[in-house]
Amino acid sequence: VALVSAAPRDLTHDLPRGTDKVRAVDAMFDRIAPRYELANRLFTFGMDKRWRRATVKALRLPAGSLVLDIACGTADLCRELGAAGHRAVGADRSRGMLHAAETAAPLVRGDALQLPFEDGRFDGVVSGFALRNVLSLPALFAECARVLRHGGRAAFLDVSEPESRLLRAGHALYFRHLVPAVAGLFLDQAAYRYLPRSTAYLPPNPEMLDQLLRAGFRGVRRDARSLGIVQVLTGTRE
Ligand SMILES: C[S@@+](CC[C@H](N)C(=O)[O-])C[C@H]1O[C@@H](n2cnc3c(N)ncnc32)[C@H](O)[C@@H]1O
Repeated sequence: VALVSAAPRDLTHDLPRGTDKVRAVDAMFDRIAPRYELANRLFTFGMDKRWRRATVKALRLPAGSLVLDIACGTADLCRELGAAGHRAVGADRSRGMLHAAETAAPLVRGDALQLPFEDGRFDGVVSGFALRNVLSLPALFAECARVLRHGGRAAFLDVSEPESRLLRAGHALYFRHLVPAVAGLFLDQAAYRYLPRSTAYLPPNPEMLDQLLRAGFRGVRRDARSLGIVQVLTGTRE
C-alpha cells in the first residue's frame, strides 16, 4: 500500500529475499486487494489521489500518449492517466489486485521485470508504490527503459522519509504503530505492519537516481512531496 515509514537501513535483514519475497508480496497483495483502495484513502487522508495526479503530470506528455502503469494494482494510476487524456495500459503480478481493479484500461498479468511488450512500445511509464516490491530496482528501471521509445518519459511515485528528525519520528509513530493497530481491527495487521518496514528495501536517494541514469535515462530528478513522505522520480529515455 502507499504506506511508508522511516526505515533504518539495517532493518532489511529480517525482510524476505529472493523467491521468498516474490511469494510473500504476491500472497499479501492478493489478500489485501478487496480493501486496498479504501485503506489508502483512509491512511493517507485522501492524499494518495493527489500524489498519483502529480505523478501523471510529472510525465509532461501530451494527451493521447500511450502510457504503461507498471505494477498497476487496482488501477488507480490507470484511471488518473485516463482522466488526463492518456491511453493507459496496466500490468501487475497479483491476480487479486487485477480482479479488484475498476478501469477501462486494458490490464495484463505479468512481471514488471519481464514485461510482455516489445521494445520502444510506450510513450511513458509510471508506477505507484511499487519500487520496494520488486526483486531488483536496476532490473526494473532497465525494463522500463526497454519498453519506452527514445524520448519517452518515466515517473515513479513511492514512499520516502521526511528530512526533519521530528517529522520522521511522528511519521514512524503513525505508520509503524497507529496504522497497523487500526488495520488490525478491520484489515490485515500483518500486511500493514510489513508495508512500512518494506521501505528499507529502497536504496538512498542518490543511488536510485544513479540507477536510473545507468538504465538509460537522462535529466533524472527526485521531487519530494507532502513534507517528504512521498517522492516522484522522473527521467527521459535516452
Ligand atoms: C503497493 S501496490 C501499488 C498499486 C498501485 N500501483 C497503486 O498506486 O496503488 C504494489 C503493487 O505492485 C505489484 N507488484 C509487486 N511486485 C511486482 C512485480 N514484480 N511485477 C508486477 N507487479 C508487481 C503488487 O502486486 C501490487 O499490486
